[in-house]
Amino acid sequence: MKLSVLLLCALVAVQAALLAAPSAQAKGLQVGYYNKKCRKGVDVEGVIMWHIKRAIKKNPRVGAALVRLVFHDCFVRGCDGSREAPANIGLAAFDVLEEIKADLERKCRGVVSCSDILVYAARDATKILSRGHIDYKVPGGRLDGMYSSAYEAQAELPDSTFTAQQLIDNFARKNFDAEEMVILSGAHSIGMAHCSSFRGRLTAPSGEINRDYRNLLNYKCHQSANPAVVNNVRDEDYKTVARFMPGFKSRVRKIRDLCCRINGS
Ligand code: HEM
Repeated sequence: MKLSVLLLCALVAVQAALLAAPSAQAKGLQVGYYNKKCRKGVDVEGVIMWHIKRAIKKNPRVGAALVRLVFHDCFVRGCDGSREAPANIGLAAFDVLEEIKADLERKCRGVVSCSDILVYAARDATKILSRGHIDYKVPGGRLDGMYSSAYEAQAELPDSTFTAQQLIDNFARKNFDAEEMVILSGAHSIGMAHCSSFRGRLTAPSGEINRDYRNLLNYKCHQSANPAVVNNVRDEDYKTVARFMPGFKSRVRKIRDLCCRINGS
């Protein structure tokens, strides 16, 4: 984040800690937390939704980036708006968060935390990408962290090379059971991954990976040094699906007609 935005996040953290925050923390988070926190006419959640709609229209990749970002933020020290992790670098979504923060500072200075902006933004992205199928209320009142550690983030976030047991253990440390971990991992039905993140899996025994899908991924990963490939065959181009997974082609078309094409790729 730009220094100015970082400072504003810190400002909200301090203000919230000194003023509204003790009560917010004591009462816990609330749905509609910002309803009466700004001057009349400023609808905080509405402002965030407006920006997210615009950003996804311009670049649909932003939606998946936000969903991933909320996981990375909340998994380490809780949702605190921190960003110091190599895994976060380069995510287009930071620009959008900065834009929203700056707009909200103009409209309602020193009130809305970066961590709340991120959580609302990811919820809104999910709603837009699912064409309204996924819609839920999000309580607000989070405080921004004053401390952000790249080391901690690297140590606590699950690595793409983990075995199933390592993943289960990793999530258990955050009080998630295996079922919750699998449900959360469903977020990978959108977005992209660089080949370096999964190349090691492509040599797995044939019982562990679909042969046609392995061939498709091998083909994709040889197109350049370390390309990013869509996480879901639904978002793959027809020509490639037809070549490697012909039986899947008509299904891809049906799924897209029913729902969406989420990556803008
Ligand atoms: C179970 C442990 C998890 C591991 C090991 C993992 C790992 C990864 C990796 C390696 C990538 C691709 C990064 C790249 O190469 O560019 C990725 C992408 C992504 N992850 Fe996860 N992840 C996990 C859990 C989650 C959870 C819980 C969520 C959200 C609830 C999530 C949301 C996403 C999204 C949306 C993307 C696509 C991002 C984009 O297209 O910009 N992941 N994840």
